[in-house]
Amino acid sequence: MRLDIENIKKTYGDKIVLDISNMTIKEGKITGITGPNGSGKSTLLNIISYIDDNFSGKVKYNGMDFSKEVAKNITYVFQKPYLLRRSVYDNIVYPLKLRKVDNKSQTKYANDIMKRLEIEDLSNKRGQQLSGGESQKVALARALVFKPKLLLLDEPTSNIDSESVKIMEREIVNFNKETSGTVLIVTHNLEQAQRICDEVISLDSGKVRN
Ligand SMILES: Nc1ncnc2c1ncn2[C@@H]1O[C@H](COP(=O)(O)OP(=O)(O)OP(=O)(O)O)[C@@H](O)[C@H]1O
Ligand SMILES: [Mg+2]
Repeated sequence: MRLDIENIKKTYGDKIVLDISNMTIKEGKITGITGPNGSGKSTLLNIISYIDDNFSGKVKYNGMDFSKEVAKNITYVFQKPYLLRRSVYDNIVYPLKLRKVDNKSQTKYANDIMKRLEIEDLSNKRGQQLSGGESQKVALARALVFKPKLLLLDEPTSNIDSESVKIMEREIVNFNKETSGTVLIVTHNLEQAQRICDEVISLDSGKVRN
């Protein structure tokens, strides 16, 4: 999915936290968003995903306005992952159930993504019993499992050990290569951005830094 952002402005009171006149996120690429704390990175993802619809300006999704149909093709992994109070397996099949994927395929896709992310041993654990890093891995699995057209990731590896970072980066790149899904990833880690991103956009006080 391609994104065209036009004249977006977001304010809290009289403080402007995001002010972007023009930005294009290319289809089928991995784009990184970097910038200091409070520079508007999460705000930008909240607006793109329409979790926050209180802004001025426009976001176009393959040239179209936001709609339920557009929303179905987007997934957003939050900075603080939110998991259901059920097993890890149930968490991962949940988006497939929502999309009425048949039971056999649900099992196949869920097992496949757990294997790829090397989290099979977590399958029967409950969402609320996981450590911070484990939750981030499961949240990524749940996002990748239905192959979204647009994947929004907010600091997906902030609590992750270096070995697991490699695995997660590998699977983000594989997802992008195999499905041509667009990825927008917020990261403070410039080396990570260089490793996996085709392009990097830098925000500072809500504006794009050139
Ligand atoms: N609900 C809110 N009310 C008032 N100000 C807010 C609110 N949410 C965010 N802000 C402000 O908006 C600005 C941008 O916040 P945002 O969460 O987008 O930053 P960020 O770039 O994601 O930072 P971080 O790297 O710490 O995650 C910050 O100055 C923040 O204090
Ligand atoms: Mg943030």
